[in-house]
Amino acid sequence: MKEESTKTKNKYLMAWYFLTIIIFYGVFKFGFPVIWMKIMGRDTLLPTPSTLMAWYMIMVVVCITVYITTSDLKIKCFVSLLVNNKSNSVLQSIIRIVILVIFPLWIGWMTFSSTSSSVASPTELRIQHPTLPQKFESLVNPFRHESEEKQLIAIEEGKILFQQNCRPCHGSKADGEGPWSNTFRLKPANFRDPGTIGTIVENYPVWRIQKGGPGLPDEATPWDSTMPPWEPDFTEDQIWKIIMGEYVTADVSPREPEVLHE
Ligand code: HEC
Repeated sequence: MKEESTKTKNKYLMAWYFLTIIIFYGVFKFGFPVIWMKIMGRDTLLPTPSTLMAWYMIMVVVCITVYITTSDLKIKCFVSLLVNNKSNSVLQSIIRIVILVIFPLWIGWMTFSSTSSSVASPTELRIQHPTLPQKFESLVNPFRHESEEKQLIAIEEGKILFQQNCRPCHGSKADGEGPWSNTFRLKPANFRDPGTIGTIVENYPVWRIQKGGPGLPDEATPWDSTMPPWEPDFTEDQIWKIIMGEYVTADVSPREPEVLHE
């Protein structure tokens, strides 16, 4: 009798199984970005990276599968929803149709649509250097008017800040080959490549460093950038130092701003 009641209680174990997976997915996908935003005191959401999402979900599926296989009774309850018998309720039949028909069809459709060729227009190209917002155009590097010695000190401080904060992605030689660089689809910029910081005026990186990937306009974001916004961590002076250190580390010079000669 006791076993019978456990059985009826757990009749929907399989439905609970899928529901748990969906709930955890929701927490990782939509809850974590908000929680991390609050913990880190940022004002933009901090989305969970897709590789991490995949790992979290694998762990969830493994854990609840292990839980279900801990007793024969649980395994029996787990499949009971799929077994046709006289005591089947309408809800049970609906869940059975979802699991046995709709779920496989959905997987089939996803596989089909991701592998079939389509007639969509060619993939958009990403614009690496969109127009600099007005606010940053008039900025001037305060250290350029200092004595040579003070400039050298600023560069040295900047190099250290660069190694401490930017190296994981941009690499110790600023060549974009940091230890994390291969984990991103859009690779961190290689500052030794003359097409990156060598073609822009010195105040352009101030914008990019303060606002990061989230601050980019639409034309630069078809491939989401992981470049973090550093505004909360560094003062403007520190950012100028980092930029000077960054150019020296990469062994390139910024583009000279155009001046009108009268
Ligand atoms: C989590 C990885 C990551 C970290 C850490 C990081 N960056 Fe980036 N950064 C990127 C990626 C990816 C790009 C290329 C996409 C883009 O332009 O947003 C980039 C682009 C840039 C650019 C634009 C270059 C150009 O030519 O458009 C600058 C400047 C830059 N980073 C500076 C820095 C500085 C300075 C630091 C340290 C304070 C830093 N980054 C830390 C990932 C990172």
